[in-house]
Amino acid sequence: MDKFDVAIIGSGPGGYVAAIRCAQLGMKTALIEKYSTLGGTCLNVGCIPSKALLDSSEHFHNAMHSFADHGIDIETPKVNLAQMISRKNAVVSQTTDGIDFLMKKNKITVFQGFGSFVDDHTIAIKKETEETKISANKVIIATGSKPTELPFAKFDKERIISSTEALNLKEVPKQMIVIGAGVIGLELGSVYARLGSEVTVIEYLDKAIPGYDSAMSKEITKSLKKLGIKFNFSHKVTDVSSDGKKVSVSATDKKNQEVKFEGDYCLVAVGRSAYTAGLGLENVGIKTDQRGKVEVNEKLQTSKEHIFAIGDVIKGAMLAHKAEEEGVFVAETMAGQKPHIDYNLIPGVVYTWPEVASVGRTEEQIKEAGISYKVGSFPFRALGRARASGDTDGLVKIISDKNTDEILGFHMIGPRAADLIAEGVVAMEYRASAEDIARMSHAHPTFAEAIKEAALAATDNRALHV
Ligand code: FAD
Ligand code: NAI
Repeated sequence: MDKFDVAIIGSGPGGYVAAIRCAQLGMKTALIEKYSTLGGTCLNVGCIPSKALLDSSEHFHNAMHSFADHGIDIETPKVNLAQMISRKNAVVSQTTDGIDFLMKKNKITVFQGFGSFVDDHTIAIKKETEETKISANKVIIATGSKPTELPFAKFDKERIISSTEALNLKEVPKQMIVIGAGVIGLELGSVYARLGSEVTVIEYLDKAIPGYDSAMSKEITKSLKKLGIKFNFSHKVTDVSSDGKKVSVSATDKKNQEVKFEGDYCLVAVGRSAYTAGLGLENVGIKTDQRGKVEVNEKLQTSKEHIFAIGDVIKGAMLAHKAEEEGVFVAETMAGQKPHIDYNLIPGVVYTWPEVASVGRTEEQIKEAGISYKVGSFPFRALGRARASGDTDGLVKIISDKNTDEILGFHMIGPRAADLIAEGVVAMEYRASAEDIARMSHAHPTFAEAIKEAALAATDNRALHV
């Protein structure tokens, strides 16, 4: 039986990054993945393919709706969905091949097969009828998550679909019903709305992207309504059925009235659940919480101190970069180092257009914590750069402590917000005040000037361009 210092089960951004860091620190490392390609949800059916389709659909939408305004006359463009999907698949392959290369470069032994605990230090890896066993001093569980199914809306993967199928459709839906106005609902709803589908979103709560600052929820709803997406908030879905061609969805609204929706596809995007099925946690006495997540302490150790868990399978935001940070954290902890993760400073991004990006606490959270605060906002429409590109929707909102001026929350919706949020992360990592940002030179003309202006507004209500 091969012996390793560390075995990692799951090759998503948590698992493969942990493997690289373990190898860098001199550990003999094994990585176990049940699928034939590495990279997990993020690379295969998550972050990367969704962003490829978001970019392609945005090009199409711009060609249809913005080119003429920019003085570019073209014949009416047509969607070639097969090519769009095939390009997306090529982007995924290039990316997953890159992980193969990184594993070889770092001399990590990759096992393709389904991993499960036999006992504290032995893992069985099953591939079809073959079984290999390896032993490891330490183990990292990085098995990620799967789409959550509603009890009355089982995925048939044809008409009642999860994000995985929505990334591989063969036709542009005429009418797509989306259950859940969370990140997946808005991102993939945007893809198909841009390609011409009539998209109807049904959300249980009273707003979109409920985890974000309310100002962001309000603004993104406004922008996506302009794109043609219809929103039904405070609706409780009670039934979903399909005859193989059409999908019917029943829901009750705020007044308890029944409302019916019809479409040719229904995307169910109501969250994701930790994936531990078949892992044999019972063989090592590791428990999961009420939501099925593996329980860990502050060092990300399970109840067995040599078995760690990271990423979507444990508590916290289900984000690729959170899983990556935890992969590095665990590798360094195993090596006797003292790493640190500030969970408050893990940014969140929604890749709609305009993009939403956020770090730190929302205004609602700050209010609830009883902290006195001030808010500075700046709209993109007041920015020369935004007018030049024609991307005037959105705003930057900076919340700082009323007494110390330390930035507590950094929220933005607008062009390139996904990339611009890095300024907020750096500022908050170094515990900057709003005035620190307000006094830094920001190149002109750039979208980043909206950050400086919002910081000026938060400092002393002294934004220059409103
Ligand atoms: P995963 O990526 O889920 O990887 C777990 C791996 O473990 C999988 O490959 C699985 O096959 C394997 N596995 C499970 N059990 C076993 C076993 N017993 N044996 C062997 N292998 C096993 N996050 C972002 O930060 N930005 C985004 O833009 C973004 N976009 C997304 C878009 C979509 C459509 C979806 C669905 C998710 C998106 N996410 C995004 C979330 C992101 O994909 C996850 O947070 C991230 O992949 C979690 O990483 P992980 O390593 O914990 O798990
Ligand atoms: P989510 O948690 O973001 O949103 C789910 C939405 O569904 C919530 O608004 C919730 O109130 C609603 N909902 C739940 N049950 C419902 C019901 N029965 N009827 C109607 N609405 C209901 O989950 P989502 O969008 O499925 O994404 C899963 C995870 O993937 C997220 O945690 C997210 O972090 C990650 N992800 C991240 C992305 C990014 O970083 N850009 C992109 C896509 C996914």
